[in-house]
Formats: sequence, C-alpha cells, structure tokens
Amino acid sequence: CGIVGYIGPREAYPIIINGLKRLEYRGYDSAGLVLSTGSEFELVKTKGKVSDLEEKSASLDKTPHIGIGHTRWATHGVPNDVNSHPHMSNNNEIVLVHNGIIENYESIKQLLIGKGFVFYSDTDTEVLVNFIQYIQSENNLSLTDAVRVALNEVIGAYAIAVLDKKDPDHIVVGRLGSPLAIGIGDNEFFIASDASPFIEFTKDAVYLDDGEMATISLGKEVDVRKIQDNVSVIPDIQELQLNIEAIEKGGYEHFMLKEINEQPRSIRDTMRGRLLVEEGVIKMAGIWDHQEKFLNAKRIIIVACGTSYHAGLVGEYMIEDFARIPVEVEYASEFRYRNPIIKKGDVVIAISQSGETADTLAALKLAKEKGAFIFGINNVVGSSIARMTDAGAYTHAGPEIGVASTKAFTAQLTILALIAMKLGKHNGELSTEKFHYLTRELDHIPELVEKILQNCEGVIDRIAEKYKDNKNAIYLGRGYNYPSALEGALKLKEISYIHAEGYPAAEMKHGPIALLDENMPVIVIATKKGYYEKVVSNVQEIKSRSAKVIAIVNEGDEQVTALADDFVVIPETAEEFSPILAAIPLQLFSYWVAVKLNKNVDQPRNLAKSVTVE
Ligand code: G6P
Repeated sequence: CGIVGYIGPREAYPIIINGLKRLEYRGYDSAGLVLSTGSEFELVKTKGKVSDLEEKSASLDKTPHIGIGHTRWATHGVPNDVNSHPHMSNNNEIVLVHNGIIENYESIKQLLIGKGFVFYSDTDTEVLVNFIQYIQSENNLSLTDAVRVALNEVIGAYAIAVLDKKDPDHIVVGRLGSPLAIGIGDNEFFIASDASPFIEFTKDAVYLDDGEMATISLGKEVDVRKIQDNVSVIPDIQELQLNIEAIEKGGYEHFMLKEINEQPRSIRDTMRGRLLVEEGVIKMAGIWDHQEKFLNAKRIIIVACGTSYHAGLVGEYMIEDFARIPVEVEYASEFRYRNPIIKKGDVVIAISQSGETADTLAALKLAKEKGAFIFGINNVVGSSIARMTDAGAYTHAGPEIGVASTKAFTAQLTILALIAMKLGKHNGELSTEKFHYLTRELDHIPELVEKILQNCEGVIDRIAEKYKDNKNAIYLGRGYNYPSALEGALKLKEISYIHAEGYPAAEMKHGPIALLDENMPVIVIATKKGYYEKVVSNVQEIKSRSAKVIAIVNEGDEQVTALADDFVVIPETAEEFSPILAAIPLQLFSYWVAVKLNKNVDQPRNLAKSVTVE
C-alpha cells in the first residue's frame, strides 16, 4: 500500500492525489483521503483506482492545507469502499491510514467491543484507530502519546499516519517494517511511502527507522522518537538523488515499455565505475571491504522473492561456476520459517528491487541473528534492506514503476555477474583468460540489448498477436536459461493472466509433455552455447506432439529455426550472460500479449510492486 500526506501552506488535495498516483504501483484495490479543515474532517474513499477517488472528490472543499491519503493492496477484508482507508475512530476525532498488518488485531478488537466500540469494516486498521481513541480518552493523552502507547501494544508491521481533530496542526506517523519518508520543505512537510510524491517540492528527506515515530507540526522541527521508550532521535536528513523525469513515462504508453527500453542504459549504469575492462579490474567496495567474508565463506545463501528470486538462480550458477563457492537460493518466505541451518561464516545475500519486501527483510533479520554476514542487492537507495545489511551493492537501474519487474531484473543479473567474476578472480578459481573474456563480453551487453530492442521492433508484436488467445504456455530453457524460462513464464502470468509454467527443458518429458497439443505454445530458449544439441532434441519432441514452438535463437541458427513456428533472434554472448539478453524478448512478448488483451500492463490485478506484508 502507499501513504501520502501534507501539512503546509499549499492546498493538500492536489499533492495527495498526485502523490497517490505515483504510489499507485504499491497497491490499487482502493484509495482514499482525508483533509482537515481545522474543525472538520472531509473524508472520501472508494474501491478502485486513484482516478475513481478523484472523481468521487469532485465536490470536495479542496482548500485545506492538511491531509493524508492512501492507496490500498487488500490484506484484511475485500477491496470495497468500507474497507478502504482512511479509517475513522468511533468518536469521529481520529483518522488513520495504514500499510502493513496488525497481527493481534482480533484480541484488541474483542477488548474494544467489550468497551462498546463498534466496527464497520473487516480491517485491522479500524481496530488500530479505535484502539488509539480508547487509549487517548482513558488516559487523557495527546495524539502523539496515545499513538505511542498503542503501537507498543501492537504486534505486526506498519507504517501509519494519523490526524486528530482536537489537535489539528499535526500529523503523527510511525513505522515498523513498512517504509515511511518525511519530506522537509520550507515550513511544509510531506510524508510518503517513498520519496516520489514529493520529489518536485523538496530534496530533503528523513527516512524513519523501524520502531520510530514522528510528530510533524507546522513551524517546528520534526520530532522523531523511539516508539518503545520515547527517547528522542536526531533525524538524519538525506539529500534525495531522484529526479522527476525518472518517474514519468517519457512518451511511452506504459512504464513497463519504457523500462524495457531503458535497459541498455540501466545495465550500463549498473556496471559504471565497477567494470574496468582495460585495467582488468572489477571495483565493488561492498565486496572488496569484506572480501575475507566472501572468500572464506563455506557457502552463500541467496534469499529473494518473485523476479529477484529468478535472478538469484542465475546468480547461483554464476558464483558456483566462476568462484566455486557453493550457493543455495531460497524463497525468502520459505527460508524464514523452516528453521534453516545458518552458521557463522555463511554469507547471506538478499536480492530485492524495492529493498522493502517483508519476507526478504525477515529472512535477512533471521540470518543476521544467527551470525551470518548479510549483503544486499537492491535498487532503492536507503531502503530497509540496504540499511539493515552489513554491506551491499546497488543495482542503479533507476526507479522501476511497472509492477512486472524488467530493468531491475537485468540489473540484478549484471551485479551478480560482477560479484561472481570478482570472487572468482580473487580466489583464483577463474582463469585470467576467462576473466578477461567475461569482462569484454559483459561490457558489450548494453550494445547487444540495444540491438535486440531494434531488431524486435514489430517482430514480437506480430508473434504476440498470433498467440494471445492461447490459455496456457510452457517456457523451457536449460542451464543458465532455465531461470530465464521461469522468469518468462512469470512475466506472462503477471500481466496477461495467461497460465504459464517454466521448466528445465529436459524435465518436460517427466510431466509437462502430457499437456502438449496444438493449443499449447512452447517458448524455448535455444542459445547456441547452452547445450544446443540437447535443446534441438527437445524442440523435436515438442513438434512431434503438434505443439507450437516459439524459439529464442542466436544469429546464424539453422536447426531450431527450421523446426520452430516462430522465432526471435538475439546476438551471441558468453553463455553465462545469455539470460540478460534472453530476458528482453520474453519481457516484450508478455508486454505485447497483455496490451493486445487490453490488460492493465503497469498495474496488473491483485499484484503490488512492493509487498511489505508477509
Ligand atoms: C512483488 C512484485 C514482483 C517482485 C517481487 C519481489 O511480487 O510484484 O515484481 O519481483 O515482489 O520484489 P523485490 O522488490 O523484493 O524485488
């Protein structure tokens, strides 16, 4: 979910609405806002998009200077008007927006029902706002104190923003597990789940740490305190690096298409200053400063979710290949709950575009407690994972707004390649010759991506038209491109809602082959260096079951091209880096299928970009 708020001399409404639009990628089941006139609250909320909220707000008095808003990704209670945020307390005096989950809400709810409170929604949030009211009125507390006492009783994860009618010149915010940034302007303040809603107004921001809350009042400094013991914290004001162009569509119809097309640049930015081909050096301070941790590691565990997990699978192959260090890749959500064996001296790498994914954060926390050295690969500077880890490397792909991850994925692959090569070079497992070969090949990748984007113009669009009405698809790849098959299938599922499965090509005969008939397109990644002959045999097996084959082949390919119904040509590179190239046509295919099916590419149903609940 996304939170936005404003207090200052401007009208709060446009800042909140525009801010919610920028945060809509975080959740878009429903949206709402509340403006404070000083004596009254004006509250509007609705199931649907921020544009629906805007319509519903047509007759609202838009002059107030204080307000908070929310865009929701449902956890407790279906998306409907009543369950939308903000939520109001029974006495209509306190109003609150919330990201996250209050796990012990049921017991608090029972207590409040016993005290005569009434609940209108199914949400945990409504419980929290009434709990704050209860604590405030029982103890005659200020809003800040009531929020602090309430949060000390709450189990779960949250970022909240609260207004109180009796005390109308403040916004109280708090955070545990869900991000919250405070933008500091000239006698005005902004709050938001990330800095994008206020980037054109101020470059100065404070990111709350877990367990911190703040009271934001006009004419005063932000008052940050520890929730647990009310100890005052000196806020660390950071200068934001974001620019406004980076978070706008720049002439493209969708963020996803823009982000796909940005990949030559984003991959180059990820390597910039790190890959020095002439010198034969890879510079990465996060690894260099802790190289004994990596080089002495008995094993490396990679934890991640979604697309980042698929990047991790490629990372496993690369690190094992180049540096001969054993690697395990785990879904963060499984790892954290299965009593994993973590020993001192293990290195745990978390891969996360947002740096906020709740399961990945929790997995890291666990690894840290058990004494592992924890390393982050993140795209968002200052994110929770980036701040928690012992060291890390940013991907520098720039803000990714489309919910389906594209440029962040290829940037993750690039970083993992650099890490694996660096480790292999330093522990002597990678020969100097191979190291130099790999540096040259990696350095060329942005050019090759550029070429693919040019060559694919019109080609994939046509293939998508042909297959868009199929209800299922299978993706196959071997070796380095097995994870590519998984990622290709995920992309198609995410944005076109077509059921797709990724499989190692050779596993097809152990089950999925039973699904093959003329209605089952099979997308095969058949790059030349990747067990090509074996893949040719797999393609023959598919063709003899009447299924259609869409192949991703290298330039000059003859065998697979002759067998396939449709094909996309990509240039050759080191096999280890071929997943970066193969990702591009797979992303474009899912994009075009979704566009042709009229799906909401940037905001697919039920998904959210950054899942800050477990
Ligand atoms: C969500 C997004 C995916 C993403 C996953 C992990 O499910 O919709 O696109 O891959 O979270 O996100 P992270 O920010 O940790 O990479």
